[in-house]
Amino acid sequence: MFITVEGIEGSGKSTALTLLSQEMERRGFDVLLTREPGGCGLGRAIRPIVLDARTRSLNMRAELYLFLADRAQHVGEVIRPALEAGQIVLCDRYTDSTLAYQGYGRGLDPEKLRHINDMATGGLTPDLTLLMDLPVTVGLERAGLRNQRQGTILSEGRFDAESVDFHERVRQGYLALAEEEPQRFARINAEQRPEDVLLQCLSAVEVYLGRSGRGLEA
Ligand code: TYD
Repeated sequence: MFITVEGIEGSGKSTALTLLSQEMERRGFDVLLTREPGGCGLGRAIRPIVLDARTRSLNMRAELYLFLADRAQHVGEVIRPALEAGQIVLCDRYTDSTLAYQGYGRGLDPEKLRHINDMATGGLTPDLTLLMDLPVTVGLERAGLRNQRQGTILSEGRFDAESVDFHERVRQGYLALAEEEPQRFARINAEQRPEDVLLQCLSAVEVYLGRSGRGLEA
């Protein structure tokens, strides 16, 4: 089973993913937690180029292909082998990030983006996508505080430094994607406390497993 988590900056994806993976492991599932960009060796080399706020000269097409290079390698090297070995893969960001950020955010053609996403992944789509949704101002404030705490304002802050309008387009983009594919997406209210966010995530996983004739015990 392949689960992705998506959302704007500061939506609490990584906290939710950590809690979800612990809870699923507790229930006996073999879970692999990974992320984009940076879930494989190539991605870890790409990550500072695309996320460092001091990277000034990156144009939007070069940015796009860096995310896609990471994805192609990540799918081949990490995600597919784990799925074939029967693991549950939980991935922090995937193809919908490209549609939301490079499509709705930067304005690149969504149809072309779907096509190259498909080329990069060989058509591997998530079974379930948890969309952590919250107002942009709340998310940006949380992300700013986190970057300050971790000292990553410059090294990881290139997208955080985009305008509020940009992030609003990304959020609306995610909501539109979720509406297009209600079977795959579960919208999570990310303004709640981490333990309540976890409960929403677990119930979305349960609904998916129920639909595919399974339960939330391995
Ligand atoms: P990430 O490490 O996920 O940080 P955050 O905690 O802010 O979510 O940062 C990855 C950044 O890269 C994020 O701002 C979104 C952006 N991104 C894209 O623009 N396109 C993509 O395809 C992916 C995977 C990420």
